[in-house]
Amino acid sequence: MRRSEGLFDMLLETRPIFKNREYLRPSYTPEELPHRDEQIHQLARILVAPLRGETPSNLFIYGKTGTGKTASVKYMMNELKRVSDRAPRMIEPVYLNCEIVNTQYRILATLANIFLDKLRERYGREYVTSLDFPESVPMTGWPTDEVYRCFFRTLDHDLQLAVIVLDEIDRLVLKSGDEVLYNLTRMNSDLMKAKVSIVGISNDLNFVGYLDPRVRSSLSEEEIVFPPYNGLQLKDILERRVAMSFADDVLGEGVISLCAAHAAREHGDARRALDLLRTAGELAERESVELVTVAHVRRAFEKMEKDKMVEVVRTLPSQSKLVLFSVVLLTEKNSRKIVTGDVYTVYHKLCVQGGLDVLTQRRVSDLISELDMLGIVNAQIISKGRYGRTKEIKLSIPPIQARAAVQEEHPIGIETLPIPRQLTLV
Ligand SMILES: Nc1ncnc2c1ncn2[C@@H]1O[C@H](COP(=O)(O)OP(=O)(O)O)[C@@H](O)[C@H]1O
Ligand SMILES: [Mg+2]
Repeated sequence: MRRSEGLFDMLLETRPIFKNREYLRPSYTPEELPHRDEQIHQLARILVAPLRGETPSNLFIYGKTGTGKTASVKYMMNELKRVSDRAPRMIEPVYLNCEIVNTQYRILATLANIFLDKLRERYGREYVTSLDFPESVPMTGWPTDEVYRCFFRTLDHDLQLAVIVLDEIDRLVLKSGDEVLYNLTRMNSDLMKAKVSIVGISNDLNFVGYLDPRVRSSLSEEEIVFPPYNGLQLKDILERRVAMSFADDVLGEGVISLCAAHAAREHGDARRALDLLRTAGELAERESVELVTVAHVRRAFEKMEKDKMVEVVRTLPSQSKLVLFSVVLLTEKNSRKIVTGDVYTVYHKLCVQGGLDVLTQRRVSDLISELDMLGIVNAQIISKGRYGRTKEIKLSIPPIQARAAVQEEHPIGIETLPIPRQLTLV
């Protein structure tokens, strides 16, 4: 009894670091977005059209990750909804994240279901059923044409403007092509009552190269670029967030500046800055100390770098994973220098054991160079005198982490390989 009291006393005596850490997470949409005034004004200028009874141009937004694209558009959607009763026709902003809803079928089905719900809200279930609308569109199984027709009919029942936000649109196009964009941007010429306006958001500008020229020109009738934040802007963004998320006076000297500086170097990514600050706070919390210091920020940075590397390993193609795994096994087995030939021997063995195609030593050497470029291994070219040159290879991440990341289940990964726990090297 005494002892457990003591235990809790100790925890209760430590002042908490966080007031509410949720405000530091990406899921929270802030109510003010400093340093995005210009972009938000541009958005408003384009999207004011429906308030005047016009259809706004389609809009294409791009900028690196963490530059506030999603936050700004969600902010705009709320504002639009707030003033929509002043508009001559209903305005219905809809947000879809194409990383999740990532095929033409699923996009159309999701839209159909959203607008079916809206119809029922407006007129009641019975009326909607009497018009021969389905209860809902299943997420698989119908002919795509029929899904499209259902969405079209549901939308065109009313005088309304659908502002369809397609976030991470580059993911959609890479995975499923641009057919759905073609169909959506073409709808206005067939709709009688309703109108559609598309807002596409992309982290990757190059992706427009994959688009059919017709889709490209209609999607980017208007364009808004979100530039990276600089260090001072990031500092300002963090400071405003700190008041609501951290307890008073728990951040030590220089903590915010250091988080901002790190994130500024990383293409001005506000998400990174917030993650770094939160992780630093959590490290301090775990130590039961009452002050977050720059040392915590440094450790948070190292931890996040490591996590990022693991993520890179996780998404490598199987052959590269196999090459990396060979390096891991060699590192775990012996301490002498590892050269390309060693890696190839182990790699070859693994392929044979797993019944996989064996690449040439030259190709494996290329894959090693790629791993080097990704920062997963360090491959230094050394001369072997008259025997030519080879690479000396060292892991840049702890072997235990590399092993875990390689062996983790992955849809197109290595799970089909019977990777031996123990491997005898000859
Ligand atoms: N100007 C800003 N003010 C406050 N928070 C911001 C600002 N810009 C971005 N953020 C925050 O940074 C994170 C990343 O922003 P997000 O809009 O998701 O970026 P993107 O969509 O461009 O990748 C989110 O948590 C968001 O709330
Ligand atoms: Mg985003």
